[in-house]
Amino acid sequence: MNCPRLKSWFSERYDFEEMKIDFSLVSRRTFLNTLFGGWLLAFMGGSFYGLLKFAFPTLGKEPDFVILKPEDYLNIPDNSVKPFAWGGKLGLFFKHSNGSMTALKGVCTHMECNITYIPQDKKFYCACHKGWFDENGKNIEGPPPKPLEFFDITDITFEGDKLIVAKKGIKVELPKA
Ligand code: FES
Repeated sequence: MNCPRLKSWFSERYDFEEMKIDFSLVSRRTFLNTLFGGWLLAFMGGSFYGLLKFAFPTLGKEPDFVILKPEDYLNIPDNSVKPFAWGGKLGLFFKHSNGSMTALKGVCTHMECNITYIPQDKKFYCACHKGWFDENGKNIEGPPPKPLEFFDITDITFEGDKLIVAKKGIKVELPKA
């Protein structure tokens, strides 16, 4: 406060000595240590994540295809789903009520929560924010902005005793045994 008139105006009205904090729960040293500790933690976390990405470049990436055992999926009841791992995400093998089969990414298009199939309603439900999709993956209620990624992985191929679920447009060529 450089202005003397302002200074005297304040000092007439307020007792600055009384306003001083006598006791604080956090000392300056604790405050600075916490600040530095937080920064160090963030730095180490970032470095560790970078190292992980370097060691496992496919980390978090979705695969072009996955290979499933046909016997585990082809005999599921009509109007039901069975989960499989689509990279680090949920995949759903889906047998419609007419027996036709397909597969989809079991992840909501709103904020990527896992979805659940409700057989009696023939709908997919996302419990995170009450989002609904019909059995064709169309978003019909709640916040999801677009349909499920149904057609990305609907190429279902039988190769020997393998069931291959692949992204649409991906040509899967397996090495010959
Ligand atoms: S994440 Fe599915 S409705 Fe929000």
